Amino acid sequence: MLKKTYETVVIGGGIIGCSIAYYLAKEKMDIAVMEAGKIGTKTTSAAAGILGAHSEINDDFSVFYPFAKASQAAYIELKEALYEQSGIDIGYREGGILKLVYSQAEKQNFNYLLKQHTVEWLDEHRVKELEPSISSNVLGATYIPDDVNVLPDQTCHAFIKSAQANGASFFENNQVFEIVNKGGNYLVKTAQGEVEAKYVVLATGVYGNNLFHQLGLAERVSPVKGESLIVSHEQQLLKHTLFHNGSYIVPRNNGKFIIGATMMENDWSHTVSLKGADFLIKKAKKMLSSAGKFTIEGVTAGLRPTTFDRRPFIGVHPEQEGIFIATGHYRNGILLAPATGQMIRDFILGKEVESKLTEAFRLDRRQHIIV
Ligand code: GLY
Repeated sequence: MLKKTYETVVIGGGIIGCSIAYYLAKEKMDIAVMEAGKIGTKTTSAAAGILGAHSEINDDFSVFYPFAKASQAAYIELKEALYEQSGIDIGYREGGILKLVYSQAEKQNFNYLLKQHTVEWLDEHRVKELEPSISSNVLGATYIPDDVNVLPDQTCHAFIKSAQANGASFFENNQVFEIVNKGGNYLVKTAQGEVEAKYVVLATGVYGNNLFHQLGLAERVSPVKGESLIVSHEQQLLKHTLFHNGSYIVPRNNGKFIIGATMMENDWSHTVSLKGADFLIKKAKKMLSSAGKFTIEGVTAGLRPTTFDRRPFIGVHPEQEGIFIATGHYRNGILLAPATGQMIRDFILGKEVESKLTEAFRLDRRQHIIV
């Protein structure tokens, strides 16, 4: 049952909303999460779960990369804390990523990455020692041990159970239709009734444009659909994640592998096409010569929420100080969930947030770009 008032209402029960609820509930805030459908079943459950701070971020080494690395590092303690509080193992799998390189020109792209002390260049022979079934025409690989992976469903549910242990409430099948500013508080109109809150957080992924519009926000979030294959094999064909040009094969801690993912701009459907599956199979075979041996266990499609500059929106509404936004995490929702949850917690508690982060992720940054 909904109460009449909460300190904070979080809209959206994906990994970002659940992480925010976790960090706020730990501070003994009174939180309710409103999810339009079933918690953690949309983009979150279609994610591969790669914590790819190094492998995904290659064009902003001053702000975004350190933010992503901090979020990745947060998982090291978080996995224990979440297990203690929820009893859920988030499937943190070590091993890291081999970013495969097929030409000298491709290798040049990794010059910056290779300066990082945890990142190492492996020639073809060393790659084959680690992964004997790797495709034969590989030149080498950038080896990134820190880019581990987790199980997104388990991680989301570990956040939920731990937040519940600290008093947070979660409401499924509870779409939010409207947020009304009542001069100090907000009236949140939901399918299950109306509640008042001092703070409202939109962690709506790609599904929040109607609320953005109502709240007078000029920005919109659009999808880049990712289709993936869930596969298995009785033998362990692969120990490390293989990655090339945005595609990957991820060995998970549950015995399955994820072959992902397509990049379908502005595709709002949740279906997986034969064309998408064909693309993924070709990519997998290019990386791993034995990929044809995998058995297909299932397919997934998730809508990556994307902003105009592919950076998340994490910040306060430009005109309403009780409304916060946390969306647009694009390919990196699982990776960035802890750092986003901490940042929103700090905004709400009035703690200091690094100004370079506030500036980089503010909602109205488009108007502040100096050309
Ligand atoms: N994080 C990988 C992807 O979105 O495909």
